[in-house]
Amino acid sequence: MNLSVQLAPGNTKGLLLDNPVMTASGTFGYGIEYQELFDIQRLGAIICKGTTLEPKEGNPQPRIAETASGILNSIGLQNIGVDALIAEKAPIWAGWRVPVLVNIAGEKIDDYARLAERLNGVAGISGLEVNISCPNISAGGAEFGANPDTAATVTAAVKKATSLPVLVKLTPNTGDIAAVAVAVAEAGADAISLINTLKGIAIDVKTRRPILGNVYGGLSGPAIKPVALHMVYQVAGAVSVPVIGCGGISTAEDALEFIMAGASAIQVGTANLTSPRAALDVLEGIEQFMRDEGVGDITELVGVARA
Ligand SMILES: Cc1cc2nc3c(=O)[nH]c(=O)nc-3n(C[C@H](O)[C@H](O)[C@H](O)COP(=O)(O)O)c2cc1C
Repeated sequence: MNLSVQLAPGNTKGLLLDNPVMTASGTFGYGIEYQELFDIQRLGAIICKGTTLEPKEGNPQPRIAETASGILNSIGLQNIGVDALIAEKAPIWAGWRVPVLVNIAGEKIDDYARLAERLNGVAGISGLEVNISCPNISAGGAEFGANPDTAATVTAAVKKATSLPVLVKLTPNTGDIAAVAVAVAEAGADAISLINTLKGIAIDVKTRRPILGNVYGGLSGPAIKPVALHMVYQVAGAVSVPVIGCGGISTAEDALEFIMAGASAIQVGTANLTSPRAALDVLEGIEQFMRDEGVGDITELVGVARA
């Protein structure tokens, strides 16, 4: 049975995973914390917490609010910064079999280019995932990823600064996600991951105030799965680079839906917060499905639900 997937066929280094199950940024720390709990080396890839040029303390508490079938989070990219990541985390990853990708975030286009440059050639880092869901200060606070032009500009700047495989992660908070996907693919993205969280608010009726310290947050978990699946379906039909599906995946069946919609790989996010070995359970469930259904190669399932 072959579960391996090539996520950067157009890149000289390539990004060959043993299987299509990845952990989503911000829900699996730096991977290191999970080593005690299960054999993380069996995963397809790990994507670390969003990383910025300088360390960030994140948003005021509370930062998590539970919702029906999901959570709202407003972590605000709390992270150790790129220098500490290179000094403390990458040397550990360099000894691992499982590839680690660094999720990068910035407030200006130049921040992304500088991050990509700093991480290029660092042992232990197999690729970048560009989080374009951050506010685009120079264009008045919208997200870079909300607009095809700004999304393409960030992608091109990152590609110019690195030879690592580059995944660009799209936000659902936009009018036409397929147009953004086409723009970033044309700008050189090796693969596209989607979706990030959907904007939302929760209010405590007793205090009559928003629950999150930051007022709004990002919705994730099973509640967003049908929306994410639709967007993956749309994007997979619009681009020829590999698509990585994410949003509400907590079982193998969820993951298989994304693969059948056209995703070459998937990411498990919020499910890690309730069950740390959720991603491994998803992988074992996919393997079981393939055995039961007589599927010899995972790529046979990619996009089969598309007429
Ligand atoms: C607590 C938390 C922190 C997150 N941090 C990041 C981040 O740093 N960078 C990023 O691109 N996405 C981040 N995300 C978004 C997830 O990677 C994922 O795209 C989203 O949660 C949808 O998948 P899910 O429903 O499986 O969680 C975060 C999500 C959660 C719940």
